[in-house]
Amino acid sequence: MSNETAKMSLGGKDYEFPVLKATTGPDVIDIRKLYAQTNNFTLDPGFTSTASCESNLTFIDGGEGVLLHGGYPIGQLAEHSSFMETSYLLLNGTLPSKNELKEFKTTITNHTMLHEQLAKFFSGFRRDAHPMAIMCGVVGALSAFYHDSTDINDPEHRRISSHRLIAKMPTIAAMAYKYSIGQPFVYPDNTLSYPGNFLRMTFGVPAEEYEVDPVIERAMDRIFILHADHEQNASTSTVRLAGSSGANPFACIAAGIACLWGPAHGGANEAALNMLREIGTVDRIPEYIARAKDKNDPFRLMGFGHRVYKNYDPRATVMQKTADEVLSKLGVTDPIFDVARELEQIALNDPYFVEKKLYPNVDFYSGIILSAIGFPTEMFTVLFALARTVGWVAQWNEMISDPGQKIGRPRQLYTGPAQRDYIPIDKR
Ligand code: CMC
Repeated sequence: MSNETAKMSLGGKDYEFPVLKATTGPDVIDIRKLYAQTNNFTLDPGFTSTASCESNLTFIDGGEGVLLHGGYPIGQLAEHSSFMETSYLLLNGTLPSKNELKEFKTTITNHTMLHEQLAKFFSGFRRDAHPMAIMCGVVGALSAFYHDSTDINDPEHRRISSHRLIAKMPTIAAMAYKYSIGQPFVYPDNTLSYPGNFLRMTFGVPAEEYEVDPVIERAMDRIFILHADHEQNASTSTVRLAGSSGANPFACIAAGIACLWGPAHGGANEAALNMLREIGTVDRIPEYIARAKDKNDPFRLMGFGHRVYKNYDPRATVMQKTADEVLSKLGVTDPIFDVARELEQIALNDPYFVEKKLYPNVDFYSGIILSAIGFPTEMFTVLFALARTVGWVAQWNEMISDPGQKIGRPRQLYTGPAQRDYIPIDKR
């Protein structure tokens, strides 16, 4: 806390509110006593000026294009760290020692299998169901199987359920994919890395050996790191809000998956690739740029713009580099990569995008990489959910362990009718 206060005048009275200091980034005006003192609420529907919690996990400076986990820049983590190490960092607040990392990896590896009965859940879905629908259902169903880790007041239960969620997501994601293409499920292989195991469960078949390509394995791991956490975004806030009522972690993560699915959030990677395919060739770009700028057309450039970043999304920089590496390793010459690059250049130089500070976000290039690796577009958001699970779990844990934690209960500006008497139907 600082000695600084924010002063406010309302109805002829003066009020003073404390200002809480951030380590870096904007300080906040603590208005927790505002209603008790003034009988007024504040209104901020999209949370554009409102901090919903205190957190020490992730920091974003949207103006500068900075993203830090535990203080470490995302570019450095993507370059030098691994998804397992970044997960440890998010869950524990510090980078692990060699032994700590080894132990963490072993713990996660030991939880990769699903309860065998859960496999039957998949056959209840239509084969053409969206894998996000399947994931939502199956993750929610985990709470029906792992009763021994749903006491949210027990730190050990919280630890085990967190590990289970991180470990089982790749298995669930791969099973959702296998189910959609009618191939048998492939069980986890605990000798492989986290991304390697996921690739084998997704693209391997029981009839053949599957060899993990180290370039693809590294790219997959990097994509997971880039999606691991992103402060109080919509799905994370959903997980926190669901968890604030005391709901079990599996149910909370299922809620986060549902929120992530929307095209304005995690669904944008699928929408971005579909858009690039629809554009198809460089000569059609101006037509789409014009549509994106037309107020009467609901079309938006998917993979562009961000609520927080008013600069290049630092994850997009790494993603573009990774796309280069993967395409050249696989020898893929996908014309949509040229469309993407050209579209980016045109948009970055167009006054509409410049004035509104609309830059490529993490989803602009991720679809190109995932498609080159062999994932169908429906799987893109599933991969986002897989990786974001660690962020959701870390944020959920942070919230539950806070002694001042309260159920999230926003208020409203009521604009409906004032009290009136009921009119019997024959008198209306
Ligand atoms: N194409 C064209 N115009 C845009 C775009 C876009 N992609 N994004 C924002 N604008 C315009 C918008 O029309 C508005 O113009 P005006 O002020 O004249 O009404 C202005 O820019 C501000 O937009 P907003 O919708 O008020 O901004 P927001 O902060 O509420 O929305 C966003 C952020 C990400 C939902 C939005 O930029 C968008 O819809 N982008 C496309 C979807 C996308 O790529 N989403 C992925 C986000 S990153 C991954 C994730 O978080 O999951």
